[in-house]
Amino acid sequence: SQRRKVGEALSLFTLNQEKLQLVKSRMREGLEAGLKSKGCTIKMLPSFVYHTPNGTERGKYLALDLGGTNFRAMLVRFKRQKSRLYHKIYTIPLEIMQGTGEELFDHLAQCVCDFLDYMGLKKVRLPAGFTFSFPCQQSGIDTGTLVSWTKGFKATDCEGEDVVNMLREAIRRRNEFDLDIVALVNDTVGTMMSCAYEDPKCEVGMIAGTGSNLCYMEELKNIEKLEQSNGILKTNEQTSEGEEGEAAVKSDLKMCVNTEWGGLGDDRCLEDIITPYDAEVDIHSVNPGKQRFEKLTSGMYLGEIVRQVLLDLTRRGLLFKGHVTETLKTPGIFETKYLSQIESDRLALLQVRSILQQLGLHGTCDDSIIVKEVCGAVSRRAAQMCGAGMAAVVDKIREDRGLERLSIAVGVDGALYKLHPHFSQVLKETVGVMAPHCNVTFLPSEEGSGKGAALIAAVVRQKQEK
Ligand code: BG6
Ligand code: GLC
Repeated sequence: SQRRKVGEALSLFTLNQEKLQLVKSRMREGLEAGLKSKGCTIKMLPSFVYHTPNGTERGKYLALDLGGTNFRAMLVRFKRQKSRLYHKIYTIPLEIMQGTGEELFDHLAQCVCDFLDYMGLKKVRLPAGFTFSFPCQQSGIDTGTLVSWTKGFKATDCEGEDVVNMLREAIRRRNEFDLDIVALVNDTVGTMMSCAYEDPKCEVGMIAGTGSNLCYMEELKNIEKLEQSNGILKTNEQTSEGEEGEAAVKSDLKMCVNTEWGGLGDDRCLEDIITPYDAEVDIHSVNPGKQRFEKLTSGMYLGEIVRQVLLDLTRRGLLFKGHVTETLKTPGIFETKYLSQIESDRLALLQVRSILQQLGLHGTCDDSIIVKEVCGAVSRRAAQMCGAGMAAVVDKIREDRGLERLSIAVGVDGALYKLHPHFSQVLKETVGVMAPHCNVTFLPSEEGSGKGAALIAAVVRQKQEK
């Protein structure tokens, strides 16, 4: 009966077809609502990126990438359909993530300075793409205000501010080098662009990492809120493809939309999926009530959900002989990398046990089995949720284009997708079942979204020079 009780707890995480269908249709409703008006749970942020790359991009660009596990500075060189990339990784200390905005951006400027020193490029004023992986309300390609922090960042005085300006100001304060920041890019958009450089069928970008998000190429005429804010005029000026007049713009053009799908459920529409364990994780997060879908699907939270389940099972005497240790009560002990290790099928149970021991959780082999099952239930649900969400997106694209079948590629990045032993497989299977009229190919991003940001910078630059 111990097994039965554990099984009952874990059954809360099972999603049958019916529930997945609900997730898919709620996602679809959320996408449609977000295209119509501002302030929806799914923000549907216009990116001002109108095309995927076409291979004519040339030159040397700097790319700065903030928002995943690390900050990366890189130099990308495009030459005849080839690119070369040099990069350096910098960690962002917790006190900086949660200090003042000025401190955060000063820190970024310092990292960039170090990188330029390292590359011997301090005297050159390079064009730069800035990948900033948080929701930004953009009114053009090189400007955007931070709507709200996500993923545990909470530096003060940034929300509502133009983050490109904040970076420019920090560089000015430092007064040691200069940059020409020409593009502000979400990591999903950067990932889509870098994968589209290799495969033109790539029109969707997805991140399954610390956070969870997706972008895709939407028909401009469908982004109704853009028209309302006079976006069409702006759009007309910025496209240099020779389209003339609103009619042409409306019928053919596309724009990449950063969905910020992590906000699904912020109106409580996922209450029938959210378990008491999820509710606990949400309450103790820095943004309770926000990013509910993200909290079910991304690396930053999965370990915490697992810990909540283990705590409950232990309290009920079903695990660790009922000993609730201080370790088990410590938030954040289960990083995504441990989940990935524990769930690896190549690992013998004894090895799982020793990982748990390293984490300070001493148990029997039976305990290890249960822990592994908990991890499996939580990560499987995450992959299924993302799969149902993605099915909503690709089916929308297919319907909008009036196609019986759609063949499309998705660029993907993030530690959960790349390092977890089952996530990618379950994601793929779910999309297959939930969007049976679409052939979806997954392209793991090789070089991160920075390369995509550099590509966007290249497009902007080449247009400016024309
Ligand atoms: C990187 C991208 O490779 O993946 C980043 O360049 C992105 O822009 C990151 O944010 C996401 O992964 P994680 O797992 O570090 O959040
Ligand atoms: C969070 C951010 C989003 C980003 C995602 C993946 O959801 O809000 O902008 O794309 O994490 O890093």
